[in-house]
Amino acid sequence: MARSVRLRILALGHTATLGGAELALARLLDAVDPDRFEVRTLLFGDGPLAARLREGGHPVDVLALGDLAAAGRHAVGRTPLALVRNAARTLPFGVRLGRELRRLRPDVVYPNTLKAGLIGVPLARLLGLPVVWHLHDRISPDYLPPLMVRLIRFVARSAAAVVVNSDATAATLPGHPRLDVAPPGFGRDQVGPPPGTRVPPCPPVVGLLGRISPTKGQLVFVRAAARVLQRQPDVRFRIIGSAMFGAERYADEVHAEALRLGVGDAVEFTGFTPSPASALDDLTLCVHASPTPEPFGQVIVEAMIRGVPVVATAGGGATEIMRSAPGAELGWLVPPGDDEALATAISDALAHPDMALARAERAYASALERFPIERTADVVTGVWRRAARAR
Ligand code: GLC
Repeated sequence: MARSVRLRILALGHTATLGGAELALARLLDAVDPDRFEVRTLLFGDGPLAARLREGGHPVDVLALGDLAAAGRHAVGRTPLALVRNAARTLPFGVRLGRELRRLRPDVVYPNTLKAGLIGVPLARLLGLPVVWHLHDRISPDYLPPLMVRLIRFVARSAAAVVVNSDATAATLPGHPRLDVAPPGFGRDQVGPPPGTRVPPCPPVVGLLGRISPTKGQLVFVRAAARVLQRQPDVRFRIIGSAMFGAERYADEVHAEALRLGVGDAVEFTGFTPSPASALDDLTLCVHASPTPEPFGQVIVEAMIRGVPVVATAGGGATEIMRSAPGAELGWLVPPGDDEALATAISDALAHPDMALARAERAYASALERFPIERTADVVTGVWRRAARAR
């Protein structure tokens, strides 16, 4: 196909910190056919995502938004006054971004985060450019200030199309007329050997991988660890990840709780890992402990394709990923925010390695079939094409 008919996509991201949405974007762009789509990414700050994209051969520009890019989603729109003040502070940036959009005139503007869309969707509309907003967050009051929920839903309605990462996220945009579900996918390089070939560590290591945040439930994990240790004192626990987006206070709280419960020696904090796959390989069991419904939960799929058995909390995308026929479980699903139930599931999985292996084998096969990145790319590029055509 001739180069000239390639659709020109401008992806927007407000941060270059490697969170879930950013990793999902990097993997997506690796899978998009470069003969049909020319994707540029414009980030509102510099950082590891910019490097990761460039490594993959994807052009990146940085237009700095400053400290507003780092503000937590709760701080930005907690009160009407905060919202107005932040909108006003964003104005000069909006002017610069508008200039960039006018200069580049992409066929589709593609914001990949909440903040990128809140700024990018209205601007693109103003300039008459089709915009496809990819939402990785549940737009719901258990996750965002109510005012933000209303604002995001309103802005989302003016986008040519919205892509979400799960049915659970879709359900938080009730009545939205142009919604497609594209679960994030894994790249081939992420897949490990089949579960049966793994040698789990001894003594067992139970890990939670992800940024440290109240939405990821490290506190519940530490409390469950203390319960498991009463019964199985040789088990080791690992919290892999660092605090991002203003969650440092919560990280301190998690540390303090481990000490308070007297399990400081059994719970290791590794900090950020640049290689989640090998961190997962070192685990006997992977725990996902989000107390509020997870929008998707990429780490669950990552554990599945490394052959690591999973204990996850029900709700949101986690329930969708772990969905199975009765008797053919893909792991353990426990109620959210319940450290006792979590501890019971962890103990159960550790006490029955054959059962854990059988579940991990089913999970491996299921994830390989359902979540390859090519599927994600098919959906997203289809939406881009539709939006460009409707121009
Ligand atoms: C966000 C969500 C997470 C999801 C990821 C990719 O980080 O919190 O649940 O897996 O985006 O869509």
